[in-house]
Amino acid sequence: MPATPSSPPRGPTRLVVLVSGSGTNLQALLDAAADPAYGVQVVAVGADRPGIEGLARAERAGVPTFVHRVADFPDRGSWDEALAASCAAYEPELVVLAGFMKLVGPAFLEEFGGRCVNTHPALSPSFPGMRGPADALEYGVKVTGATLFVVDPGVDTGAIVAQTAVPVEDDDDVETLHERIKTAERAMLVDTVGRMAREGFAVVGRKVRIGRPVA
Ligand code: GRF
Repeated sequence: MPATPSSPPRGPTRLVVLVSGSGTNLQALLDAAADPAYGVQVVAVGADRPGIEGLARAERAGVPTFVHRVADFPDRGSWDEALAASCAAYEPELVVLAGFMKLVGPAFLEEFGGRCVNTHPALSPSFPGMRGPADALEYGVKVTGATLFVVDPGVDTGAIVAQTAVPVEDDDDVETLHERIKTAERAMLVDTVGRMAREGFAVVGRKVRIGRPVA
Protein backbone atom coordinates (compact mmCIF):
# COMPACT_ATOMS: atom_id res chain seq x y z
CA MET A 1 0.00 0.00 0.00
CA PRO A 2 1.35 3.45 -0.85
CA ALA A 3 1.86 5.65 2.17
CA THR A 4 -0.89 8.22 2.66
CA PRO A 5 0.58 11.54 1.60
CA SER A 6 0.78 13.96 4.49
CA SER A 7 -0.23 17.56 3.93
CA PRO A 8 2.70 19.80 3.09
CA PRO A 9 4.20 21.51 6.13
CA ARG A 10 2.69 24.95 6.70
CA GLY A 11 5.20 27.78 6.60
CA PRO A 12 5.76 30.06 9.56
CA THR A 13 2.98 32.50 10.48
CA ARG A 14 3.61 35.88 8.90
CA LEU A 15 3.74 38.67 11.46
CA VAL A 16 3.81 42.45 11.06
CA VAL A 17 4.80 44.29 14.25
CA LEU A 18 3.99 47.97 14.87
CA VAL A 19 6.13 49.98 17.30
CA SER A 20 6.55 53.54 18.60
CA GLY A 21 9.53 53.34 20.91
CA SER A 22 12.36 51.27 22.26
CA GLY A 23 11.03 48.02 20.78
CA THR A 24 12.09 45.57 23.48
CA ASN A 25 8.89 43.59 22.90
CA LEU A 26 9.69 43.54 19.19
CA GLN A 27 13.22 42.35 19.99
CA ALA A 28 11.84 39.49 22.07
CA LEU A 29 9.71 38.41 19.09
CA LEU A 30 12.64 38.75 16.67
CA ASP A 31 14.85 36.66 18.98
CA ALA A 32 12.18 33.97 19.33
CA ALA A 33 11.50 33.91 15.58
CA ALA A 34 15.18 33.19 14.88
CA ASP A 35 14.34 29.60 15.87
CA PRO A 36 12.27 27.97 13.10
CA ALA A 37 10.49 25.86 15.73
CA TYR A 38 8.85 29.04 17.05
CA GLY A 39 6.71 29.10 13.91
CA VAL A 40 6.73 32.85 13.22
CA GLN A 41 8.36 35.06 10.62
CA VAL A 42 8.43 38.81 11.30
CA VAL A 43 7.87 40.02 7.73
CA ALA A 44 7.82 43.78 8.42
CA VAL A 45 7.93 46.36 11.18
CA GLY A 46 5.92 49.58 10.97
CA ALA A 47 6.05 52.73 13.08
CA ASP A 48 4.24 56.03 13.53
CA ARG A 49 7.50 57.95 13.93
CA PRO A 50 11.02 57.75 12.49
CA GLY A 51 14.31 57.48 14.35
CA ILE A 52 13.24 55.09 17.08
CA GLU A 53 15.18 52.15 18.46
CA GLY A 54 12.34 49.82 17.47
CA LEU A 55 13.03 50.55 13.78
CA ALA A 56 16.78 50.15 14.31
CA ARG A 57 16.17 46.73 15.86
CA ALA A 58 14.18 45.68 12.76
CA GLU A 59 16.88 46.97 10.43
CA ARG A 60 19.60 45.11 12.33
CA ALA A 61 17.53 41.94 11.97
CA GLY A 62 17.16 42.52 8.21
CA VAL A 63 13.39 43.05 8.48
CA PRO A 64 11.79 45.64 6.15
CA THR A 65 10.31 48.73 7.80
CA PHE A 66 7.80 51.47 7.01
CA VAL A 67 6.86 54.69 8.79
CA HIS A 68 3.61 56.65 8.65
CA ARG A 69 3.45 59.82 10.73
CA VAL A 70 -0.07 61.09 11.41
CA ALA A 71 1.21 64.63 10.78
CA ASP A 72 2.07 63.74 7.19
CA PHE A 73 -1.57 62.99 6.32
CA PRO A 74 -4.50 65.39 5.82
CA ASP A 75 -6.56 63.54 8.44
CA ARG A 76 -6.52 60.57 10.76
CA GLY A 77 -8.62 58.48 8.36
CA SER A 78 -6.10 58.69 5.53
CA TRP A 79 -3.27 57.84 7.96
CA ASP A 80 -5.25 54.80 9.07
CA GLU A 81 -5.82 53.72 5.46
CA ALA A 82 -2.12 54.06 4.65
CA LEU A 83 -1.16 52.08 7.75
CA ALA A 84 -3.59 49.30 6.81
CA ALA A 85 -2.35 49.24 3.21
CA SER A 86 1.31 49.10 4.22
CA CYS A 87 0.64 46.23 6.60
CA ALA A 88 -1.51 44.40 4.05
CA ALA A 89 1.27 44.63 1.44
CA TYR A 90 3.25 42.16 3.56
CA GLU A 91 0.30 39.73 3.74
CA PRO A 92 0.52 39.11 7.49
CA GLU A 93 -1.63 36.48 9.17
CA LEU A 94 -1.27 38.33 12.48
CA VAL A 95 -0.42 41.93 13.37
CA VAL A 96 1.12 42.69 16.76
CA LEU A 97 1.01 46.20 18.24
CA ALA A 98 4.05 46.17 20.54
CA GLY A 99 4.29 49.53 22.24
CA PHE A 100 2.46 51.21 19.31
CA MET A 101 1.17 54.44 20.82
CA LYS A 102 -1.67 55.15 18.39
CA LEU A 103 -5.23 53.92 18.17
CA VAL A 104 -5.85 52.18 14.86
CA GLY A 105 -9.04 53.19 13.03
CA PRO A 106 -11.86 51.68 10.97
CA ALA A 107 -9.88 50.93 7.80
CA PHE A 108 -7.25 49.06 9.79
CA LEU A 109 -9.84 47.12 11.78
CA GLU A 110 -11.76 46.28 8.60
CA GLU A 111 -8.62 44.61 7.27
CA PHE A 112 -7.16 43.13 10.45
CA GLY A 113 -10.01 42.91 12.98
CA GLY A 114 -9.78 39.61 14.88
CA ARG A 115 -6.16 39.05 13.89
CA CYS A 116 -4.46 42.01 15.49
CA VAL A 117 -3.29 41.94 19.12
CA ASN A 118 -1.92 44.65 21.39
CA THR A 119 -0.04 44.50 24.64
CA HIS A 120 -0.92 46.84 27.50
CA PRO A 121 1.13 47.29 30.70
CA ALA A 122 -1.72 46.78 33.18
CA LEU A 123 -4.22 44.11 34.13
CA SER A 124 -7.29 44.98 32.06
CA PRO A 125 -9.91 46.17 32.65
CA SER A 126 -7.97 48.23 35.21
CA PHE A 127 -5.91 51.24 34.15
CA PRO A 128 -6.48 51.55 30.38
CA GLY A 129 -4.67 54.21 28.37
CA MET A 130 -1.17 55.60 28.16
CA ARG A 131 -0.46 55.73 31.92
CA GLY A 132 -1.07 52.13 32.98
CA PRO A 133 1.94 51.75 35.33
CA ALA A 134 1.60 55.28 36.77
CA ASP A 135 -2.14 54.88 37.37
CA ALA A 136 -1.61 51.50 39.08
CA LEU A 137 1.07 53.03 41.31
CA GLU A 138 -1.09 56.05 42.20
CA TYR A 139 -4.07 53.82 42.99
CA GLY A 140 -1.94 51.76 45.35
CA VAL A 141 -2.63 48.30 43.94
CA LYS A 142 -0.33 45.54 45.22
CA VAL A 143 -0.47 43.51 42.00
CA THR A 144 -0.47 44.74 38.42
CA GLY A 145 0.82 43.25 35.17
CA ALA A 146 0.28 43.15 31.44
CA THR A 147 -2.56 42.15 29.13
CA LEU A 148 -2.47 40.87 25.57
CA PHE A 149 -5.78 41.57 23.85
CA VAL A 150 -7.46 41.49 20.46
CA VAL A 151 -7.62 45.05 19.16
CA ASP A 152 -11.08 46.61 18.90
CA PRO A 153 -12.09 50.26 18.46
CA GLY A 154 -11.76 51.06 22.18
CA VAL A 155 -8.80 52.00 24.35
CA ASP A 156 -7.38 48.71 25.66
CA THR A 157 -10.87 47.18 25.73
CA GLY A 158 -10.52 44.18 23.39
CA ALA A 159 -11.04 40.51 24.22
CA ILE A 160 -8.26 39.25 26.47
CA VAL A 161 -5.84 36.66 25.07
CA ALA A 162 -3.43 36.43 28.02
CA GLN A 163 -2.47 38.23 31.23
CA THR A 164 0.53 38.14 33.50
CA ALA A 165 0.77 39.53 37.04
CA VAL A 166 3.67 41.22 38.83
CA PRO A 167 3.90 42.56 42.40
CA VAL A 168 4.07 46.27 43.14
CA GLU A 169 6.91 46.88 45.62
CA ASP A 170 6.71 49.55 48.33
CA ASP A 171 9.64 51.51 46.92
CA ASP A 172 8.62 51.34 43.25
CA ASP A 173 8.52 54.42 41.07
CA VAL A 174 6.89 54.38 37.64
CA GLU A 175 10.14 53.38 35.98
CA THR A 176 10.98 50.42 38.22
CA LEU A 177 7.41 49.19 38.10
CA HIS A 178 7.16 49.51 34.32
CA GLU A 179 10.48 47.67 33.88
CA ARG A 180 9.22 44.78 36.06
CA ILE A 181 6.00 44.72 34.04
CA LYS A 182 7.91 44.76 30.75
CA THR A 183 10.01 41.74 31.72
CA ALA A 184 6.84 39.74 32.37
CA GLU A 185 5.10 41.31 29.35
CA ARG A 186 7.82 40.18 26.92
CA ALA A 187 7.67 36.59 28.19
CA MET A 188 3.87 36.58 27.91
CA LEU A 189 3.97 38.08 24.41
CA VAL A 190 6.52 35.62 23.08
CA ASP A 191 4.80 32.63 24.64
CA THR A 192 1.30 33.62 23.54
CA VAL A 193 2.08 34.79 20.01
CA GLY A 194 4.02 31.57 19.42
CA ARG A 195 1.09 29.48 20.60
CA MET A 196 -1.35 31.49 18.48
CA ALA A 197 0.87 30.93 15.45
CA ARG A 198 1.47 27.22 15.98
CA GLU A 199 -1.91 26.16 17.35
CA GLY A 200 -4.34 28.67 15.85
CA PHE A 201 -6.88 30.66 17.83
CA ALA A 202 -10.53 31.61 17.82
CA VAL A 203 -12.24 34.79 19.02
CA VAL A 204 -15.93 34.56 19.86
CA GLY A 205 -17.28 37.65 21.56
CA ARG A 206 -15.03 38.27 24.54
CA LYS A 207 -13.69 34.72 24.63
CA VAL A 208 -10.35 33.93 23.06
CA ARG A 209 -9.18 30.35 22.88
CA ILE A 210 -5.84 29.15 21.58
CA GLY A 211 -5.66 25.74 19.97
CA ARG A 212 -9.22 24.64 20.60
CA PRO A 213 -12.71 25.79 19.66
CA VAL A 214 -14.58 28.20 21.90
CA ALA A 215 -17.18 26.35 24.00
C1 GRF B 1 5.24 48.28 26.75
O1 GRF B 1 5.14 48.18 28.16
C2 GRF B 1 3.89 48.41 26.12
O2 GRF B 1 2.90 47.63 26.71
C3 GRF B 1 3.62 49.86 26.35
O3 GRF B 1 4.85 50.49 26.07
C4 GRF B 1 5.90 49.58 26.33
C5 GRF B 1 6.67 49.42 25.06
O4 GRF B 1 7.93 48.90 25.30
N1 GRF B 1 2.51 50.35 25.59
P1 GRF B 1 8.92 48.51 24.10
O5 GRF B 1 8.90 49.62 23.07
O6 GRF B 1 8.48 47.20 23.54
O7 GRF B 1 10.28 48.41 24.76
